[in-house]
Amino acid sequence: MRVPFLDLEAQYSETREATDSAVSEILATGRYVLGKHNQALESRLAEMHGVRHGIAVNSGTDALRIALQAAGIGPGDEVITTAFTFVASVEVIVQLGATPVFVDIDPSTFQLDPEQLFPALTSRTKGVLPIHLFGQLAPMEPIARFAADHALTLFEDAAQAVASHCKGDFAGSWGKASGLSFYVTKNLGAAGDGGMVLTDDDEVAEKCRSLRVHGMGRERYFYDDIGYTSRMAEIQAAVLCAKLDRLDEWTQKRRELAAIYLDELREAPVVTPATLEGNHHTFHQFTIRCNDRDAVMAHLKAHEVDSAIYYPVPIHLHQPYEAFGHGAGSLPITEEVCQTCLSLPIHPHLSVEQVRFAAAKVREAASNPAGIA
Ligand SMILES: Cc1ncc(COP(=O)(O)O)c(C=O)c1O
Repeated sequence: MRVPFLDLEAQYSETREATDSAVSEILATGRYVLGKHNQALESRLAEMHGVRHGIAVNSGTDALRIALQAAGIGPGDEVITTAFTFVASVEVIVQLGATPVFVDIDPSTFQLDPEQLFPALTSRTKGVLPIHLFGQLAPMEPIARFAADHALTLFEDAAQAVASHCKGDFAGSWGKASGLSFYVTKNLGAAGDGGMVLTDDDEVAEKCRSLRVHGMGRERYFYDDIGYTSRMAEIQAAVLCAKLDRLDEWTQKRRELAAIYLDELREAPVVTPATLEGNHHTFHQFTIRCNDRDAVMAHLKAHEVDSAIYYPVPIHLHQPYEAFGHGAGSLPITEEVCQTCLSLPIHPHLSVEQVRFAAAKVREAASNPAGIA
């Protein structure tokens, strides 16, 4: 039984009618950027996440960079974040001339550990960027309290957390500005790249709208800022709107499959992911930890079960980022998690049988550290 990591064909076949008719209309009318599909996507996602503004851009990376820039992060500033993430979370801080300051994570949830924030504070700290990794919110109450107590700007990397919330407070509703990603593999994925800034702040929203078109002000060809080319194509917005109609159902399915994994792996010698209290986890990834990861991966591969390592090396140990960290051993939990984490297939087009099969293969291999592939 093959258990794939992703099934884009199945997503398309569920949304084909709405996608095809919108795409044909876009091509026929020639309104290729910043049109009604962009507007629909922006207002639907802003409303879902409980903020007044959504600004559609070209990628999740652009969304984060534009969010941070619009809210005033620049040269000389320090932004506290984590190193157990996709590189974009940190890359944008550096690109703005600011310095990322890494803190460690909670190994059971993979989220920023709020206890680590105070020791990382300096006179240059300007912002905090928690990452809602794998589909659940970071512990936002203590993080937001810390940011408020020290007059820091709070951001959210919500790239993996579309539709995620904690007790009804959605990703993107806590920070001054935050970024969603619609990269192909995300829970809401475009047919290519896409992203969105979410913000409740009118001024920040206006600046983001300007930054996505080169920093152009209200008057054409007059510039208020040094910005970017980061418009979202109407075709991408139409693809995303069609998938957004299915998102609740798809998220529910992910949650059901996660519950099956948790049940099937209850007694296995692996660590299953914990959900923070009150979190509505959308399971962008289902990530376990196991000591014998190579053996488990090999066994899964031999039985046609996909798996992936998110992330094999923490950001502070990659050569271009070494200058911003304190070397191996400085983030012990992050470093340990990078050596043991393994993400299993979870997406709405898997059957219960496929998930049970994948879990059984994990159980078999994890029970035998030598691997049985
Ligand atoms: C945590 C995180 N931050 C930022 C990004 C950047 O998003 P994108 O790939 O759309 O630029 C991603 C996605 O890949 C991500 O997973």
